[in-house]
Amino acid sequence: MEKIHAVITGIGGYVPDYVLNNEELSRMVDTNDEWIMSRIGVKERRILNEEGLGTSYMARKAVRQLLERTGTDPQSVDAVICSTSTPDYHFPSTASIVVGKLGMKNAYAMDLQAACSGFLFAMDTASGLIESGRYKKIVVIGADKMSSVTDYTDRQTCPIFGDGAAAVLVEPTTEEYGWMDSHLRTDGLGLPFLCLKAGGSATPPSYFTLTHRMHYLHQEGRTVYKFAVTNMSDACALIAERNGLNKDNIAWVVPHQANVRIIQAVAQRLELPMEQVMLNITHFGNTSSATLPLALWEYESKLRKGDNLIFTAFGAGFTWGAAYMKWGYDGK
Ligand SMILES: CC(C)(COP(=O)(O)OP(=O)(O)OC[C@H]1O[C@@H](n2cnc3c(N)ncnc32)[C@H](O)[C@@H]1OP(=O)(O)O)[C@@H](O)C(=O)NCCC(=O)NCCS
Repeated sequence: MEKIHAVITGIGGYVPDYVLNNEELSRMVDTNDEWIMSRIGVKERRILNEEGLGTSYMARKAVRQLLERTGTDPQSVDAVICSTSTPDYHFPSTASIVVGKLGMKNAYAMDLQAACSGFLFAMDTASGLIESGRYKKIVVIGADKMSSVTDYTDRQTCPIFGDGAAAVLVEPTTEEYGWMDSHLRTDGLGLPFLCLKAGGSATPPSYFTLTHRMHYLHQEGRTVYKFAVTNMSDACALIAERNGLNKDNIAWVVPHQANVRIIQAVAQRLELPMEQVMLNITHFGNTSSATLPLALWEYESKLRKGDNLIFTAFGAGFTWGAAYMKWGYDGK
């Protein structure tokens, strides 16, 4: 029997209209454009600031565009996996809200939480399901409303994050395209360095947690930076070596957008110029699970069938990894 590969056949995306730029941010906390651009590389980010709208709103917009662009009947979708760390609710899942609103009546749906590595982990999961031969159409979403967990009085973290969502359709092919290889890891050592301290079952919400601002993202930036550079670079090098990839045959690197200096380090390790690295951190910031699919969404027209892509990400946990995909269609 021919081997089935899982290939991306379309992309949809959505970012909110509201633009929070560095000038406005520097009126909220003691910071400035020069510091943010030189240390992080973010000029502006999108914020979903309409009351009552959560991550599922952005995810739904992205998936609707995906279904329209690919001419996909919502009822033909078998499964929806939504990667998010900022779900609308603890339960039910954000994915269940999306399938309900879009009439995907024959799909089962679930959220997958691996922080900023979530889309990579969700793609690997979806690919395994497709390769099993039991599923034909899976929608993988990366969506996060990071503004809902960002402390806009903390200058160390608030310049980094933004809101957004994007989704891809994953289908089977017997051609030599698609998700070829991955190296994904989680070590559990990252908890003290990057977490949301309260609101979960370990520390449920209380007056104490509210007073101490424990419902906002906590990060020890320097430690996270070091682990991110090392683990993303090592994972990329491993995936490249295992698949005979090098600077001459890699078309694009699709990295998580946490800090432009981390991205530059990854490119350097692969000996690739920044022109071959997908970037959206400058105008979207770190949108967590959404950074990778939003990058594909914006760069889709440049992609060619057969392009070798290396994805890489790093997030809380710590979680990290890299994957090799041979792109499956000419971008329009
Ligand atoms: C957060 C990050 C940008 C901070 O950069 P850094 O070079 O490590 O900076 P530091 O935290 O050491 O701070 C350096 C100085 O800048 C100051 N500073 C911090 N934030 C600032 C801001 N927004 N504006 C101006 N100054 C700021 C600090 O107070 C410190 O001042 P001091 O030397 O007088 O104490 C960086 O550590 C980083 O990107 N880490 C990884 C984050 C990440 O990838 N997170 C997501 C993972 S998925």
